[in-house]
Amino acid sequence: MKRYPPIVRDLPVMLHGGDYNPEQWLDRPEIIDEDFRLARLARVNTWSVGIFAWAALEPEEGRFEFGWLDRIMDRMAENNMKAVLATPSGAKPNWMAQKYPEIRRMTLQGIREAQQGRHNHCFTSPIYREKVRIINTKLAERYGRHPALGLWHLSNEYNGECHCPLCKQAFREWLRRKYGTLDRLNKAWWTAFWSHTYTSWDQIDWIDGTVHGLYLDWRRFVTEQTADFMRAEIEPLRRYSPGIPVTTNFMGTFLWLDYRRLARDLDVISWDNYPAYHDRPDTVDVAARVSFTHDLNRSLKGGRPFLMMESSPSATNWMAINKLLRPGIHRLKSLQAVAHGSDSVQYFQWRKGRGSCEKFHGAVVDHVGHEGTRVFSDVAQVGADLEKLADLVGATVPARVAIVYDWDNRWILGAVAGPPKKDGVSTLFEDFVQANYRALWRMGVPVDVIGSEDDFSRYDLVIAPMLYLVKDGVANRLATFVGNGGTLVGSFLSGIADENDLVFEGGWPGPLRQLFGVWAEEIDYLYDDEFNELVATAAGCELGLNRKYRLGRVCDLIHAEGAEVLARYGGDFYAGRPCVTVRREGRGRVFYLASFAQQEFFNDFYSLLVRKLGLRRALETDLPDGVSAQLRTDGAREWIFVMNFTNSAQSVSMPPGKWMDRLSGEIMEKTCVLDRYGVRVLESATRSP
Ligand code: GAL
Repeated sequence: MKRYPPIVRDLPVMLHGGDYNPEQWLDRPEIIDEDFRLARLARVNTWSVGIFAWAALEPEEGRFEFGWLDRIMDRMAENNMKAVLATPSGAKPNWMAQKYPEIRRMTLQGIREAQQGRHNHCFTSPIYREKVRIINTKLAERYGRHPALGLWHLSNEYNGECHCPLCKQAFREWLRRKYGTLDRLNKAWWTAFWSHTYTSWDQIDWIDGTVHGLYLDWRRFVTEQTADFMRAEIEPLRRYSPGIPVTTNFMGTFLWLDYRRLARDLDVISWDNYPAYHDRPDTVDVAARVSFTHDLNRSLKGGRPFLMMESSPSATNWMAINKLLRPGIHRLKSLQAVAHGSDSVQYFQWRKGRGSCEKFHGAVVDHVGHEGTRVFSDVAQVGADLEKLADLVGATVPARVAIVYDWDNRWILGAVAGPPKKDGVSTLFEDFVQANYRALWRMGVPVDVIGSEDDFSRYDLVIAPMLYLVKDGVANRLATFVGNGGTLVGSFLSGIADENDLVFEGGWPGPLRQLFGVWAEEIDYLYDDEFNELVATAAGCELGLNRKYRLGRVCDLIHAEGAEVLARYGGDFYAGRPCVTVRREGRGRVFYLASFAQQEFFNDFYSLLVRKLGLRRALETDLPDGVSAQLRTDGAREWIFVMNFTNSAQSVSMPPGKWMDRLSGEIMEKTCVLDRYGVRVLESATRSP
C-alpha cells in the first residue's frame, strides 16, 4: 500500500468547497465580499468556478471578458483558496446556439432541439469543438499558471446523445473502422433477423433496441465520442498548465457512459453524490449503495483517492420529496465519502441564486445571507473535521476483494428480453450486485469494483455477478486467477453471450463452463410472490451453510459437471437439482450461485468465505446492523471509519487495544458508542505512531 500525492499539489489537506457562481452576482460586489468572509468561517478551501459561465466569459462571439474571473482568482489566491476551474462547455450561450444551429442536438426522430437548459450540445459538431477549443485555450493561457489554480473541471456531468447527421456519419465511420466490411458487421449483429441486413453503411441508424449488436455498439460509440470530445477539451489545458490535474464530474453509477473508458484520459476521478438519505428505515440500504458507488469511483483509477465533487449540504430540489437532511446525516455522508477514499467534501452549491430552477436547491449559504443557519454550521463542522483528517490525504483502501461491474454487461442485461422487468426496467443485475456487496459491507470488508478487463491478480476473492457478456480473453484470465489460488464467485445468467450479444453455443455458461464445472440448461423466472428454497447438502453443511434459505426471482437449472454440490433446490419440479456448487482447483475455488437467495444467505456465505480466506475486516468484530466500518491506510498507519446509518445509538464491541477517535479526541477501549447517525474515525492508540 502506498500513499498517493495530494490531488492539488500545494494543498495537502482535504478539499472542502463547492460550486460557486460569482457570475450570477457580478452587480453585487458586497455579496462576493461576503462570500469570501463566509468561506473562511465554513473552513472552505476550494471553490469550483466557471462551470456554467460561458455567457459571462464570452458575451459575444470573440469578445472575451475575463476581468471578473481574474478578480475572483486573485482573491482566492490571497485567501489561500484553490480554484477547481471549469471549462464552460456544459451550457452553450444563446448567441452561439442561435448563430450555429448545428451545435444543438437532434432527437432520435430527427428534430433539432431548441436552445434550452444545459448539457445538450452535439459532441461531434466541428463548430462546437472549435468554440470549446478557443475558450479552453484562453482559460488555460490565462490561468494555467495562476497561483489559485488547483484542478481543471471539464464541463459538467457529460451525458446524453445526439442523432444529427454529423453524429450518424461519425457512428458509421466508427463502425467501418471496427468491422471493415458490412458482411462482418451483419454477422456480428445477427441482422438476418427481421430482415435487418445492411447493404450500405448509410442505412445504419440507431433507432430501436431490437438488434442488440447495434444497440451495444451505439452505446460504445456514444462513450467513445464523448471521450473524444473530452480529449479535445483536455488538450489545451495540458499544454498550458502542465502538472495541473484534470477531472470531470461523474454521476456515480450513471448507466449511459462507460466511465471506465473515460477514466483513462483523466488524472483524477470525481463524482456527484445525491443520495436520498432521510429519516426512514431504508437509510441503511441507501448507505450501502452509496458506499458501493464510492468504491466504484475509487477503483476507476486503481485505488487512487477521488473527489466527491458535489453533494448537497441540505435537501436537493429535484427529487419527488425533498427531505431535509436529519441532524447528523450531513456529517455522516460527508465522512462516508472520505472513508471510501475521497480526499474532498464538496457541495452543490455554495450560495443559492435568486432565480431560475435551482434557487431552492440546498446550499451552504441560504437566501437569508448569513452564517446563522443549521446548514451552515453543519458545513463548518465538516470543515473542522476535515482539518483534523489532513494526514489521511493520499491514503487508500486496501481491498483484497473485487466485484466485477462492466458497463456493457449492464447495458445488455437491461436490454435483453427474457429476464424479469417491471415497467420495462430490469433491476435484477443491480439488486444482485448489491446483495453480494451488502454482505461484505456489513462486515466491513474493503471491496473494489472493477471491470472484467482489469487485473484480477491483486485480489484473493473476485465476485463476478451475472457476467452475461464475456469479452474475449476474460474466461482465460479468470481461469488463471483461480489456477493461481484465487476464489471466484459467479452466478446464474453468466457466460451467455460474447461482446456483440451473440449467444455462446454448446451450453451455458459458455466459455466459463469448465471453470465453474456446471452446465446451466434452463432458467426459470419467478413472480415476486413465488419462492423456492435452498437446502444445503452434507458438504454445504460442513462448510457452514446449515440452514434453509428462501430463493426468488431466478432459478437456474444446472447440472454439476465436476463441481461439488453445496446446496439443492427444495421445491418445484427441479427440487433436488443443484443450486450452489463449488469446483476446486488446487488452492483455487469457484462457486456458482444458481439462484437469488434472501440476504441472510449472502451474509452467511460471505462470512464463511471471509473467514476461510482470512480476509481483513476494517474492524475485527461483528458490527451491529446498519453500522459500517471502512478502512484507509497509507501502508504504515490505518484509520478506521465507524459509521452508524441507523437513527438510534449503537454500540460496537471493539477488538483488543486502545483507540483514539480522531474527531473527538476520545480514547476508547472495549466499546465504541455511536450516536444516531454518528461517525468516528479511529486510530490505534496502542501502537506507537
Ligand atoms: C448536478 C449538477 C449540478 C446541479 C446539481 C443539483 O447533477 O452537476 O450543476 O444541477 O446536480 O443537484
